[in-house]
Amino acid sequence: MADQFILTTLEGPVAILTLNRPDVLNALNIPLMDQLIETMERLDNDPAVRVMVLTGNDRAFAAGADIKEMAEASIVDMYERNNLARWERIKRVRKPIIAAVSGFCLGGGCELAMHCDMIVAAEGAQFGQPEINIGVIPGAGGTQRLGKAVGKYRAMELILTGRFFSAHEAYDAGLVTKVVPNELYRDEAINIAKQIGEKSPMAVRFAKEAVLKAFEMPLSEGLDFERKMFYMLFGTDDQKEGMAAFIEKRKAKYTGK
Ligand code: HXC
Repeated sequence: MADQFILTTLEGPVAILTLNRPDVLNALNIPLMDQLIETMERLDNDPAVRVMVLTGNDRAFAAGADIKEMAEASIVDMYERNNLARWERIKRVRKPIIAAVSGFCLGGGCELAMHCDMIVAAEGAQFGQPEINIGVIPGAGGTQRLGKAVGKYRAMELILTGRFFSAHEAYDAGLVTKVVPNELYRDEAINIAKQIGEKSPMAVRFAKEAVLKAFEMPLSEGLDFERKMFYMLFGTDDQKEGMAAFIEKRKAKYTGK
């Protein structure tokens, strides 16, 4: 049987995906990425799953793309591997994904965390875009997403020096949702995921899509997009149920219809 680079468990409506190449600090090689994408797409289409938590182990979320897999590659090799298409598929996952980060979160690992919708970090986690130290630059969105998260001037320093930065620095800069004691990073991510799992799944997916649009569209178009998504929710049973439950002073029961 092929190596299992992604372990999946379910806790109610929350699917927990664990990167599993611990000997190499979860370096992201192509087989791992392919398994990750297949798993995410399968869970995205599974109505029993409402939220995903993506994690590694205590020592590493992921220490980057697999350097040994890339070291001897030519331009043509890299072009034909077409990694951008893989990352695009992660970007298209419609359910929320929460990264639960401990240990090293570097290079492609940091970019993978930034593809997620929230980042919960153990206080000992170390982030970084150290590609500059090995003669390249971030290649899975780091030059774009880090700047959008922390601003141009901090992103520039981090990407040009390649230095590692702490979970607290990441939080202060706006890269991380929440910093928790080391032993709690997984539990806290699952706790947030469970709260989201109680909401209307359609509203959750529309909210994710609308928030992400803000990073791609001018404000006026983003506002138009949001308004149309808002109106569309009035075609769902969940909107009727949510508002009726408020008026009747009871807890809403969402069906995703
Ligand atoms: C392949 C890696 C790896 C990586 C670690 N390992 N990171 N293998 N690719 N990115 C392997 C090591 O070779 C070693 O294997 C084992 O994991 C343990 O790592 P050590 O270096 O022995 O551990 P330590 O001394 O604790 O140092 C940890 C570390 C260091 C600081 C995180 O491993 C490190 O600097 N890693 C590379 C980080 C990096 O440059 N990331 C960016 C990659 S480029 P052996 O077999 O020796 O035991 C990138 C581009 C993204 O991500 C482009 C788009 C996807």
